[in-house]
Amino acid sequence: MSSSDQIQSVLKEDRVFAPNPDFAAKAHVKSAAEREAMTKAAAEDPEKFWAEIAGELHWFEPWKKVLNWKAPFAEWFVGGKTNIAYNCIDRHCETSRRNKAAIIWEGEPGDSRVLTFADLQREVSRFSNVLKALGVEKGDRVGVYMPMIPELAITILACARIGATHSVVFGGFSSDALRDRMNDAEAKVVVTADGGYRRGGVVDLKVNVDTAVDECPTVKSVVVVQRTGQDVTMKAGRDVWWHEKMAEASDVCPAEPLDAEHPLFILYTSGTTGKPKGVVHTTGGYMVHTYATSRWVFDLKDEDTYFCTADIGWVTGHSYLVYGILANGATSVMYEGAPNYPKPDRLWQIIDKYGVSIFYTAPTAIRSFVKWGNEWPRKYRFDRLRLLGTVGEPINPEAWIWYNREIGHERCPIVDTWWQTETGGILVTPFPGATPTKPGSATLPIPGLDMEVVDKNGVKVGANKGGFLIIRKPWPGMMRTIYKDPERFKEQYWSQVEGAYFTGDGARQDEDGYFWIMGRIDDVVNVSGHRLGTMEVESALVSHNTVAEAAVVGRPDEITGQAIEAFVSLESGNNPSDELAEELRQHVGKEIGSFAKPAKIRFADALPKTRSGKIMRRLLRDIASGSETVGDTTTLEDLSVLAALRDDDE
Ligand code: PRX
Repeated sequence: MSSSDQIQSVLKEDRVFAPNPDFAAKAHVKSAAEREAMTKAAAEDPEKFWAEIAGELHWFEPWKKVLNWKAPFAEWFVGGKTNIAYNCIDRHCETSRRNKAAIIWEGEPGDSRVLTFADLQREVSRFSNVLKALGVEKGDRVGVYMPMIPELAITILACARIGATHSVVFGGFSSDALRDRMNDAEAKVVVTADGGYRRGGVVDLKVNVDTAVDECPTVKSVVVVQRTGQDVTMKAGRDVWWHEKMAEASDVCPAEPLDAEHPLFILYTSGTTGKPKGVVHTTGGYMVHTYATSRWVFDLKDEDTYFCTADIGWVTGHSYLVYGILANGATSVMYEGAPNYPKPDRLWQIIDKYGVSIFYTAPTAIRSFVKWGNEWPRKYRFDRLRLLGTVGEPINPEAWIWYNREIGHERCPIVDTWWQTETGGILVTPFPGATPTKPGSATLPIPGLDMEVVDKNGVKVGANKGGFLIIRKPWPGMMRTIYKDPERFKEQYWSQVEGAYFTGDGARQDEDGYFWIMGRIDDVVNVSGHRLGTMEVESALVSHNTVAEAAVVGRPDEITGQAIEAFVSLESGNNPSDELAEELRQHVGKEIGSFAKPAKIRFADALPKTRSGKIMRRLLRDIASGSETVGDTTTLEDLSVLAALRDDDE
């Protein structure tokens, strides 16, 4: 029987999985009643609730006020002085965790490294001193464009240690995308590597940095880790080798006491315009949120070995590979390469090799595992595995059931966690020992979160009615602003529904209060867990000299969740061809990154528009997904356009 036959036979969306009693007995949160009590306490006095958790961490100076809320701007732990790197590292070095593994790293070619908390303290301190020697001061921005190697974690922790604000750009982004982000952030230093390993090949990171930084006037230095040993050009006076600078630097650098609202990082994410947003997260609230959720959701204990498959270039890697996990003193496994290199069993091999007990991945990855076949995971020992998680998009029940059976051996709870780059940490999630789960639902909001599904007037809708997912009150890890653009922050997140944060997602709440995320309702698509604004891809397309106009939509895809389709009309004198379609795909790859290349390009004489000139995206989405065109099309300016597109489709 093929794996897909097995899935269909067990698919049943109304199934409820109660927490495993053995798991619950030992969990940090042991029952639904305990979670309800936490939720009640947090609803009654959220500031007291969060302050108690913050008190478990180290503060150089206590806060004077828990929350300052001048909507939509929040300040948490006002006046407090802390350091997240201190809490992730130094705090544990004073305990029996000192020589415990903090990071277990596995390189794609099969090399590995283990860094204890004490090792991490030395390496992070050393690199903090390197940054200082390069003139980086508190408040300066440091760009990071690296493969998934320990130096990436060391770099961001070193920035955090001295109060430099890091801005990590995922290594899959193109040099143009890197340049735009570094210029927006006004980075002083960029940290990179000669290259990185990916699916047996090499990604030329330094080449991309060279192209980008030539047009980044603020970047004074580039630090280069030697990873692949490939030839690179080192520009005199600008480029320095990591290993040379590290050899000269002292391994002592005390963590800087930082204001709780000191900016920790800027992470660029896609929105509904062509320009990525620099999401700003600060120190204290983000630290408390990621620390608390790591503990509740992943149930971290000292014996655990935790493995998150996300790249540190995305928010999941920031919050749940590095900060929240290390703040709990847990061991974090980091893998450099592709999940199917050299064979589709690589992640299962890592789980077996290191005795991983908690595994956090994305639905798109799970759908690939299903496709690759059950024989791969079945070769390995999963006896230490006790908890599974997912993030990034709704998990389809088939994938959930497969994950539960083939990886969890029907013994491990699954936590489906909903959150966003903007939210900093997990907001809707089961607690594994406390919350009965339903495949496909991220279940309930964390304590202290005032979340609702509302209609366009901001009025709460009834059970099982679809609407907009909003949050009415601030939470500690929330983004503070869009870098250098507070007006855009207000406008994009806090203006749709008066006084509330708009997530951009559609959702419904069922009769048990469980949230079911229905996906983005704005012009954002989610391809393999990578968030992309359709406008960004459109801007990339129209920057090609043959393109007059482009409209980009998402359509459902079995593996990647959504796939991108582009409708393109050409400048006169150009003719549609397969070669041109491929050239346009490559062009998007160059402008943004390979992962943004449209799956399909459709040429049309003109795009369907309303009388006011708006492109009728819903119509295009219908066409892209092959569904019948529904709804009112009388506003179409030129029905023949629709007909032409439909013809093309058939
Ligand atoms: O649409 C939701 C989806 O991913 C979006 C956030 O994307 P990003 O900022 O890139 O962060 C991804 C990792 C936190 C959300 O608006 N999303 C994320 N997690 C889930 C989800 N949709 C359904 N279920 C989830 N568990």
